Amino acid sequence: MARMRRKKNLVPRMERCAEMLIASPWENKGRWREALGIPADTPLYLEIGCGKGGFANKTAQAEPGIFMLALERVDEALLIGLEAAYAAERKNLRFISFDAAKLEEIFLPGELDRIYLNFSDPWPPRNRAKRRLTHRNFLALYKKLLRPDGEIFFKTDNRPLFDFSLVEFEESGYELSNVTFDLHSTDTPNIRTEYEEKFAAMGLPICRLEARLKK
Ligand SMILES: C[S@@+](CC[C@H](N)C(=O)[O-])C[C@H]1O[C@@H](n2cnc3c(N)ncnc32)[C@H](O)[C@@H]1O
Repeated sequence: MARMRRKKNLVPRMERCAEMLIASPWENKGRWREALGIPADTPLYLEIGCGKGGFANKTAQAEPGIFMLALERVDEALLIGLEAAYAAERKNLRFISFDAAKLEEIFLPGELDRIYLNFSDPWPPRNRAKRRLTHRNFLALYKKLLRPDGEIFFKTDNRPLFDFSLVEFEESGYELSNVTFDLHSTDTPNIRTEYEEKFAAMGLPICRLEARLKK
């Protein structure tokens, strides 16, 4: 299995926090809870595109009963979250340097309880829609990897991406709930991400939805 290419100057910093990084995630395929040393009924959450990892760190701290995996393909960003997790000695958070397009290489069907998609890249031109993490191809992939009662929590400031995603979820066999076009004006419990702080400071409304597989 090919590892992601890593910039040389990042290596020493990543090595210092090695215990927080799952270096060969494919080796845990089908045995994540065993590999992480957690009980078989521990909810396993995956954040895809965690950026600098603020949300993953805060969620792991707020919910000690779950285990959080934070996946990101840009090591410069991931490293910041990794170092924060290391400094805080997080027990229930690990980082994965990997591309979400290849999730099936590291998870077996039904291994995940929840997927977070926070401020996913909008990829505006229409011919790049397939790269959107809420494109129906990705939603079909998540469907396989989630438990039957699994869920996806998605939020974004980007209204065209949100409108696109509403259709993709609906047409991919998900049931939507708690849909809002202005999250911060609701009393929905919320942990803010780095991008969310930036957009909120600019006064932009945040859209959010929860998606579950139709029974
Ligand atoms: C706009 S940033 C948001 C970061 C963070 N979630 C936040 O809200 O602050 C989107 C992130 O998703 C990552 N990303 C996009 N596509 C990805 C993929 N296929 N696999 C892994 N990460 C991806 C990008 O590298 C980027 O760091």
